[in-house]
Amino acid sequence: MAGFDLVVRGGTVITASDRGRYDIGVQDGRIAALGLDLEPGTREIDAESLWVLPGGIDSHVHLDQPQPPGIVQADDFLTGTRAAAAGGNTTVMPFVAQIKGESLRQAVTAYHAKAAGKCYVDVSFHLIISDPTATVLGQELPALVHDGYTSFKVFMTYDDLVLNDRELLEVMEVARREQALMMVHAEGYDSIKFLTERLERSGKTAPYFHAESRPDIVEREATHRAISHGELLDTPLMIVHVSSRAAMEQIRWAQARGLKVYAETCPQYIALTAKDLEGLNMEGARYVCSPPPRDEDSQKAIWEGIEQGVFSTFSSDHAPYFYEGSEGKQNPKARTSFRWVPNGIPGVQTRLPILFSEGVSKGRISPETFVALTSTNHARMYGLYPRKGTIAIGADADLALWDPLREETITQSKMLHGSDYTPYEGMRVKGWPVTTIVRGQVVFADGELKGEPGFGQHLARELSPYAKPGRPS
Ligand code: URP
Ligand code: ZN
Ligand code: ZN
Repeated sequence: MAGFDLVVRGGTVITASDRGRYDIGVQDGRIAALGLDLEPGTREIDAESLWVLPGGIDSHVHLDQPQPPGIVQADDFLTGTRAAAAGGNTTVMPFVAQIKGESLRQAVTAYHAKAAGKCYVDVSFHLIISDPTATVLGQELPALVHDGYTSFKVFMTYDDLVLNDRELLEVMEVARREQALMMVHAEGYDSIKFLTERLERSGKTAPYFHAESRPDIVEREATHRAISHGELLDTPLMIVHVSSRAAMEQIRWAQARGLKVYAETCPQYIALTAKDLEGLNMEGARYVCSPPPRDEDSQKAIWEGIEQGVFSTFSSDHAPYFYEGSEGKQNPKARTSFRWVPNGIPGVQTRLPILFSEGVSKGRISPETFVALTSTNHARMYGLYPRKGTIAIGADADLALWDPLREETITQSKMLHGSDYTPYEGMRVKGWPVTTIVRGQVVFADGELKGEPGFGQHLARELSPYAKPGRPS
């Protein structure tokens, strides 16, 4: 009689701190044994030539988020989570975006309805606070944190989302009190608005000018302001999608002073630059995201930040739109200025291969650091550890089997996302996820989806240990 539901046999198992050749025995969706020559499983996977890593956790994705008229997001929970599975991910963390005037609790309920029956991998929601009313801050947010929505994002820009400094401070006070982790989009609203209007007045409306409308100084200023507010109130902060040397240096400075400031960066800041936004006609619109890709010096600085531990997490900031069609990024009738091009690019399927190839295969980071940046640190940061983010007895059997030598070209025909393009078209990568296992079930293998929509579950989370206040002594 078989002892395990599944045995993943003979692979090189790599966690954030360790590596070794082991069999992994899975029972009831959890890792039940790690060892050599385990007894047979009902199902066996030969991993002799493969690396077995904790499944990727992407703690920054946008799925099925409401958009202004004339724009739709290209992924719902079905297409977004199947692309995640194809890219070696076992958990994604999308945002519940509160629309101004809306109750936060109602927004959460609506997102659960959108996700129901559609997810291939596990999901866990962050909140976006766009309307910090007394009810939201005093009642809804504390109750939702208690229910396991233990992190939320605030924006320092975007017309529909921006919070002013007073509002930021009020939200920070609640974050501190509830020990929820506050994620900050740090770009300065007024500077961007000023620069945008000045560019438009001089006819500079092509997609490239998106990058000029939000230069690194604007990101640096907002990052410093957020850090200062956080220090004032003793509130730990996670600065998300850091793109530039200027912002990275602010964060490194804050960390050197002992402040609880954490940071995330993304593939677009190591694999793209503002030059990609140039293109003929509307071509550059494919790469419009915020903050925008920068220059080679900022790419270098992002690598410094990765190597020096300034960044805890490497996420996709998957925010998928179409390129073609009336709702697409290129529609010249609707996108008369860069200002009207939807901000965001798809990336949930390509995040892991890009970091693996540019980081591990090129010798910049160790496989263990790769695991930390793409899985373990996400689980620790957002209250999912040790159930998620590691390979250990008792943990969910969330695994990504990698062929470290396989070379692939990233191209749209391999993408399972809803967008009609990938910004990384033609990029050669070395290292590719071949099998994705969620709670012991194979959800993607041999280039094909194997899982069922609806298998993915929503995860309520513990408080983040990183959100505990505490000034440096
Ligand atoms: O351009 C981006 N990043 N769009 C997604 C929304 C956000 O700010 O994360
Ligand atoms: Zn953002
Ligand atoms: Zn985002």
